[in-house]
Amino acid sequence: MTRKKKTPLDILEAKEQSQKVVMITAYDYGSARLVDAAGADIILVGDSLAMVVLGHENTLSVTMEEMLHHTRAAAKGAGSCMVLADMPFLSYQIDAAQAVRNAGRFLKEAGASAVKLEGGESVIDQVRALVRAEIPVVGHLGLTPQSIARLGGFKVQSKTATAALRLIEEAKMLEEAGCFGLVLEAVPRFVAAEVTRRLSIPTIGIGAGPDCDGQVLVYHDILGLFDAFRPRFVKTYAEAGTIHQTGLAHFAEEVRSGVFPGDEHCFGMNEAEKNIFFERLEQYEF
Ligand code: KIV
Repeated sequence: MTRKKKTPLDILEAKEQSQKVVMITAYDYGSARLVDAAGADIILVGDSLAMVVLGHENTLSVTMEEMLHHTRAAAKGAGSCMVLADMPFLSYQIDAAQAVRNAGRFLKEAGASAVKLEGGESVIDQVRALVRAEIPVVGHLGLTPQSIARLGGFKVQSKTATAALRLIEEAKMLEEAGCFGLVLEAVPRFVAAEVTRRLSIPTIGIGAGPDCDGQVLVYHDILGLFDAFRPRFVKTYAEAGTIHQTGLAHFAEEVRSGVFPGDEHCFGMNEAEKNIFFERLEQYEF
């Protein structure tokens, strides 16, 4: 049975019905199919792909064209999951017109249904403009990896009373500006709980504790496919990296020892054609 594609309304309804929202990143057709088959609600084509797919040190250098390319591929395998595209660094920070132009490309050219951007008050004009342009938006507060130059690293945020109160203020601003969801990354559990209690849009936590309305993790972290570092908030559900490596090493070993390919992997020819081939081969001059 094909399931109906999830929409922003479904995500808002999930909060009303106290149902947890499941968001998982995916960056291509194959991983999107697996995430859909696993029953997730939202596929986030996160700019984390800069690190886990493209091998960059942080998310700053991934481009609009790269994000569109991966969103297009993921959207093809997304099934009933909503496709949420992450707006990369400097694709929306300049002004509202730039934000609408770039966000629109994700919907028009790549099959996304919504976009996510990082920041609070500094991007409120952009959020309002996107909503006016009928582009559904998810906000992102707390540890915002595109602010790494200012933050000085991937660090837990909102650890002082002032910063925690400011987080709540900015969360309310994003809700009022029209976001239909809010990612909260790496903030103390009880701060996330307070934000969640005060908003009517769902909060989706990553390193923000169990009181959020939903959770998001990076595909490669869930499956043990990225070992450069594992933040404390990650739970790895399968060591697929080890399984992949064992399979690949086995292939290499069988190629070198001549075990692969076996007869069962080879193509034949019918006997008559084969006899003619060898007869002619004798007479042939190359
Ligand atoms: O880019 C990403 O994967 C994200 C999640 C960590 C929320 O923004």
